[in-house]
Amino acid sequence: MTGGEGKEAVKRYVEDLRKKIHYHNYRYYVLDEPEISDAEYDRLFKELEELESKYPELVTSDSPTQRVGAKPLEEFGTYEHSTPLLSLNSVYEEEEVRDFAERVRIFLRGVDGEEEIEYVVEPKIDGLAMELVYEDGVLSIGSTRGDGKTGERITQNLRTIKTIPLRTLPDADADAGVPLPLLEVRGEVFMPVSKFKHLNEELGGKGEKMFANPRNAAAGSVRQLDPKVTASRPLDFFAYGVGRAEGREFSTQWEVLDYLRRIGFKISPLIRRGFANVEDVIRHHEEVKEKRDELDYEIDGIVVKVNNIDQQNRLGTISRSSRWALAYKFPAREEFTLVKDIVVQVGRTGALTPVAVLEPVPIAGVTVSRATLHNEDELKKKDVRIGDTVVVERAGDVIPEVVSVIKSKRTGAEKEFRMPDRCPVCGAEVMKEGPIVRCIGVSCEAQLIERIKHFASLRALNIEGLGEKVIEQLVDNNFVSDTADLFFLTKRDLLKLERMGDKSAQNILDALEKSKHTTLSRLIHAIGIRHVGEHTASLLVDNFRDVEALRNASYDDLVSIPEIGPEVAKSILLFFEQESTQQLLEKLERACISYEKKEIAVGLAEEEKENLEGKTFVFTGRISMPREEAKSIVERFGGRIASSVSKRTDYVVAGAQAGSKLERAEKLGVKTINEEAFMEMVSERV
Ligand code: IVH
Repeated sequence: MTGGEGKEAVKRYVEDLRKKIHYHNYRYYVLDEPEISDAEYDRLFKELEELESKYPELVTSDSPTQRVGAKPLEEFGTYEHSTPLLSLNSVYEEEEVRDFAERVRIFLRGVDGEEEIEYVVEPKIDGLAMELVYEDGVLSIGSTRGDGKTGERITQNLRTIKTIPLRTLPDADADAGVPLPLLEVRGEVFMPVSKFKHLNEELGGKGEKMFANPRNAAAGSVRQLDPKVTASRPLDFFAYGVGRAEGREFSTQWEVLDYLRRIGFKISPLIRRGFANVEDVIRHHEEVKEKRDELDYEIDGIVVKVNNIDQQNRLGTISRSSRWALAYKFPAREEFTLVKDIVVQVGRTGALTPVAVLEPVPIAGVTVSRATLHNEDELKKKDVRIGDTVVVERAGDVIPEVVSVIKSKRTGAEKEFRMPDRCPVCGAEVMKEGPIVRCIGVSCEAQLIERIKHFASLRALNIEGLGEKVIEQLVDNNFVSDTADLFFLTKRDLLKLERMGDKSAQNILDALEKSKHTTLSRLIHAIGIRHVGEHTASLLVDNFRDVEALRNASYDDLVSIPEIGPEVAKSILLFFEQESTQQLLEKLERACISYEKKEIAVGLAEEEKENLEGKTFVFTGRISMPREEAKSIVERFGGRIASSVSKRTDYVVAGAQAGSKLERAEKLGVKTINEEAFMEMVSERV
């Protein structure tokens, strides 16, 4: 509301707001199926509170502001808490935390002047508040918080949670190990994030309703009519406080936590004490926020508590929240929004990723308008449709992701989405590999940079000087549309690139020229057939004379090769069927690529010619001079000869019919040269 409206209009507006909040309370607390985010709910609630404080005559006894939480589910019995479970005031801003500390300070100042105040800071676990009643150390009643006064009795369900002691441990340090006649333990039931993801996957896989987040999953699991279902859900419990504790006085919150730990409860390891200064609390909040993603449980902020219980009691409560504690929340990172469309993005490795185009929504300070749906399987499991209202999460620097769909918001007009069977960028066919759909087009623009990087890499064609920066520029300037185009680059093209001098351009051209003479296995590896790496390439070379023979291979030819399975065979066939592959091969032929089956002739760069000192050589295959002679030449220049190839070998000199040593050299990335290149290396020195 903007103010200045008529009284009647304000009244109608407030009523409307109340209705909305009632509805969302019901969805959240009773059904465990929220339709709006917590942040959105907080906004509505705050707006109502503000309007009611401005127009107190509009406050009604059934206003949501007069009650916290919602009615218990009728099927469960109710439980009246002996002392109310208070709620926390939530703030998001530093300034509000300073205000809180200031209020505490002033309140406690009294007549005797300043008092020392120490805060305990706990993580605010994003789960569900519970109260556990222990009689003589035995769990007798477990209940939800409900509206703070009355909760649901869910003892049987809570008994299934392994971290809730059915019987407390004796506290050896006090009470002579005799349990208290009555102890009320308060804490939070939650579902670990990893387990939540797992559960949702399982539910999605079975076509069952998935949960929006770990909190809803915990709520949905703990409020089950059948305790067996609860028992099958991975729930956990952190204790953070006590209600009544007959026969035991605690003087600080820290003491309470320590006691709870000793008698067998799990306490969050992130709890800290000793905060005397509110600025330290603010700094700590920042640190915990950074650590948030490393934890396996969701926290939505920190809880700042006055440690001294006498001070707590003096501070007391105002309208069901305590004046001695505060929730300092993190910015929400989950929002609800509309899926306007689903599009497909092709990544640098050719993976097709479905992406939801969203009604833009601010999440933790950033406007999010796209969110990943990961892959086809995820999309199906979550059953996201165009027109759906979804929960979107943006955690830290991670790409925003669609977490789940709010199915209750469906109107029937939503449209299902199917992954395309052709690449939306280049039109080539796609291939499914597990959950990932991949484009196999060799001239696919989306993949070009990656493809060229691979083509030029050391283990492929080894085109020196063709680094990532240069490749990116070549693609961005449209100088190349597939890998073969590299061989048609001119010096003029290269000189147009940023920071490209004459010498570097010439070096690249020389390297390209040099790379044209290669081996068949390097070439097969370089052209980038999915599933065909170095090893498979060498298997293929043993069976096919040249690229042409490989291109003509049938499925049966391929699978008859040991180690080549159906998936690889299909991938090879599909690759050669593509129009873009034919074009690439023709271009490579025009570029005069030549290859030998095994021997390799790699020329030498200038600087390599200079220095034989300390270099290790291995000779293999048939060479024209006797080995002894070769040995004496190498040694004359300070090098040495070894009989087997290792990572420390600098050069393998390969002659005709070179065998395993050559293969090993290729595997280890050891430089391989032919006899001619070797002679060239030494001739200038002879
Ligand atoms: S203390 C007066 N400590 O936050 C103090 N509550 O509105 C009352 N919560 O749903 C609560 N972590 O379940 C406290 N370390 C923590 C907490 C915590 C999470 C939840 C609690 C309740 C809400 C309070």
